[in-house]
Amino acid sequence: MTGSARPQPGELVGLACSAAREAGELLTARRDMAAVVQTKSSPTDVVTQLDRAAEDLIRRRISAARPADSILGEEGGQTGAGAAVRWIVDPLDGTVNYLYGLPTWAVSIAAEVDGVVVAGVVCAPLQRSLYLAWLGGGAWLESGWEPGRRRLACNAGVPLADALVATGFGYQASQRATQGRAVAALLPKVRDIRRAGAAAVDLCYVASGQVDAYYESGLHAWDIAAGGLVAREAGAVVAGMHGREPGEEMTIAASPVLFAQLHDQLTAVVGG
Ligand code: IPD
Repeated sequence: MTGSARPQPGELVGLACSAAREAGELLTARRDMAAVVQTKSSPTDVVTQLDRAAEDLIRRRISAARPADSILGEEGGQTGAGAAVRWIVDPLDGTVNYLYGLPTWAVSIAAEVDGVVVAGVVCAPLQRSLYLAWLGGGAWLESGWEPGRRRLACNAGVPLADALVATGFGYQASQRATQGRAVAALLPKVRDIRRAGAAAVDLCYVASGQVDAYYESGLHAWDIAAGGLVAREAGAVVAGMHGREPGEEMTIAASPVLFAQLHDQLTAVVGG
């Protein structure tokens, strides 16, 4: 099949899995030599040479298999245009965790066909977890701790007061001040808050029921694309405020009833 033919989601998932695993192995093997080579939106928003090396590897693997596809990567931006298939790549989500030797970081690869995300893979090597989903095919976890592949379903029927809610913070001081106010208002109303440090993994935690909900403002397409499909295929609603698409303004993921409660709570605090 050439790169211009309409592929099956399963084919795209297979390519994403092999590229994500390989990038995860590279990142794991070379972590000791990771160093900050650039800052982006603020001095704390860092890029290491391994973010770039992992993205280069993923781009090479995708382009070798499907040369006509376009690719949007966190580090390299958009390459190619007008292709039916676009890959959305975060080569290292959770760069700060990675730099500090914390285990919550992941390689995130999604594939869109005609603007719709149809395949998503989030590989968290130090957690021995590979989350995968394809449109209409469910969300799955391949874990090094258990045999085979397990189908995921998000937690349902959890009221906000009993919910374990994950969130994250951006890198800019003004954005963090707003995020701090939101989390301060929410904390007395929920079971507890978690801040793991990698948005793609947070979305997969919603899918696997390791948290009940997740929200964050300031996210980009590469943070959301793969993990968002995993969460949706596990039964979660993944959306922004008032029916808008998830993205920079806000991303909320939870089972439908909890989504509505969290959405209303966040509307009361941050507006929108
Ligand atoms: C970040 C992580 C973090 C989230 C930030 C993201 P990066 O991605 O996902 O958990 O709170 O909003 O920017 O910078 O490590 O790729």
